[in-house]
Amino acid sequence: MVRKAIIPAAGYGTRSLPITKAIPKEMFPLGLKPAIHYIVEEAVQSGIEQLLIVISNSKHSILDYFDHSMELEAFLKSKNKQHMLKLLELPNIDIFYIKQHHANGLGDAIRLGKEFVGDEPFGVLLPDDFVISNQTPALSQLIEEYKKAKSSVLGLKQVKQEQLKNYGVIQGTPNSDLIEIENIVEKPKQDPPSDLAVIGRYIFTPAIFQCLEELKEGVDGEFQLTDAIKSLLEIEPVYGKIVSGDRYDLGNLGDYIELMKIMSREQSLE
Ligand code: G1P
Repeated sequence: MVRKAIIPAAGYGTRSLPITKAIPKEMFPLGLKPAIHYIVEEAVQSGIEQLLIVISNSKHSILDYFDHSMELEAFLKSKNKQHMLKLLELPNIDIFYIKQHHANGLGDAIRLGKEFVGDEPFGVLLPDDFVISNQTPALSQLIEEYKKAKSSVLGLKQVKQEQLKNYGVIQGTPNSDLIEIENIVEKPKQDPPSDLAVIGRYIFTPAIFQCLEELKEGVDGEFQLTDAIKSLLEIEPVYGKIVSGDRYDLGNLGDYIELMKIMSREQSLE
């Protein structure tokens, strides 16, 4: 059973400056809901019961959004606007928070989840990455594979050659529905080992924490999750799963506009 997941949401969102000076990327509107609402919903739809969101100083609006506003609810009731209360409904899940005090990278952010996770497998959802799938949510697709393989599973997508330098890129051998990973490189500057990039969905066994604790600074002077995955490969098998669905990157303006259209359309149909 994969019951827990971590959403790292402590980054500065530098690709989306200047707006991210004041509005965290996770709070960008998609229709009338913030982006992170959909990521939390994906976790709920995938059977996750407890979520840890890793935040930083400027991210209080995330906490406010997932809090119940008694004042607003009382106001709507007093004005006979009970029908609007349904707009305030939140995904049904326990959310915990932890602060990452310095922007030390994704590996460092996930390491902060050690106590929360304990000795269980867990999911990671990067809130920049959206996978729009009519069928099974991306995280759920990985959980299905975890149940069979009982090993860590990374979400993968084929990416154009010139884009590979922006991702963790794997080398591996296909093994039925999965790819057995042999190597992984963070943001390869040249000679990427394949055209399969890691997108922001992962299932890990708790053994990843041992690797995260021993992590040294990697690309961009940050503690990279990819480097911890590379050490994990020395301890136990790690698999990749090509996720079905269309992938969008919230930090890319064109993708953001597309996502906005998709979610607005969905909300106008609700
Ligand atoms: C992170 C990971 C990278 C992964 C990517 C997916 O990079 O470090 O391995 O491929 O997310 O979006 P970032 O986009 O945070 O630079």
